[in-house]
Amino acid sequence: MTTPFALHGKRILVTGASSGIGRETALQCARMGASLCLTGRDTGRLNETLSMLGDGDHLSHAADLTVADDRAALVSAIGRLDGVVHCAGLVAQVPFRMLNEAALNRMLDVNLASPVLLTEALLFQRAINPGASIVFISSTAPRNALPGMAAYAGAKSALEAMSRVLAVESARHRVRSNCIAPGLIRTPMLDQLGAEAVMKEAEAYPLGLGEPADVAYACIYLLSDASRWVTGQTLYVEGGLLCR
Ligand SMILES: NC(=O)c1ccc[n+]([C@@H]2O[C@H](COP(=O)([O-])OP(=O)(O)OC[C@H]3O[C@@H](n4cnc5c(N)ncnc54)[C@H](OP(=O)(O)O)[C@@H]3O)[C@@H](O)[C@H]2O)c1
Repeated sequence: MTTPFALHGKRILVTGASSGIGRETALQCARMGASLCLTGRDTGRLNETLSMLGDGDHLSHAADLTVADDRAALVSAIGRLDGVVHCAGLVAQVPFRMLNEAALNRMLDVNLASPVLLTEALLFQRAINPGASIVFISSTAPRNALPGMAAYAGAKSALEAMSRVLAVESARHRVRSNCIAPGLIRTPMLDQLGAEAVMKEAEAYPLGLGEPADVAYACIYLLSDASRWVTGQTLYVEGGLLCR
């Protein structure tokens, strides 16, 4: 049975594939028939993800996406793509009064500049096929202001704005660009926030905290032909957090 939600014949790059949401997105995309290109920094965990994918035309290539040479080598290694999911990211809680230049740049480098510059390199090298779908993982942080999250929220907010412009610029090639904004998802990233803060925050979620698969399923929709008329959007996957 063919379904527009399937990913057969699509080649998809997933960043941050060595952990959390990126790893689960890669696994679920492979289940839907896609060929995966995986990237992350930790080669051990990256290859672990690769081995979990099973049979198929999959590859992994380690890269620090804040480094221009690493991005260029990645683009050369992977060939042409029908989809990209930008999962690589970093969170740190830094109170505004301690938000010095180094702390700000670190958040902006990983969460904003890296996905934007990697996309630019892919477009410039004509590695994005007509009809492809680009998905950026944002966050509810821009709308649900939490202490210490100014730089992270600012980076994600800018990512959403840039995704909308990309959607307009790339529409003539039928290339779509969207964001997914998850609420708190159970991944190693939550360790940065501390167990007590996470438990307190969880009380604000009508459906409780999310799992990586909840984001992966939304990625599948945005990567698939089922969403062929959806571009420039941010899809909230947040267990009802923002309803209240
Ligand atoms: N978990 C949540 O509650 C939540 C909520 C909203 C949004 N998000 C967003 O979802 C995305 C995935 O987060 P996660 O929860 O899955 O986090 P995670 O488990 O900590 O994974 C983060 C991933 O990003 C990669 N990464 C970090 N810095 C990198 C760099 N400089 N170059 C290349 N890769 C780098 C890591 O690679 P290595 O481990 O190999 O270094 C890892 O694969 C992030 O963009 C995050 O902001 C998460």
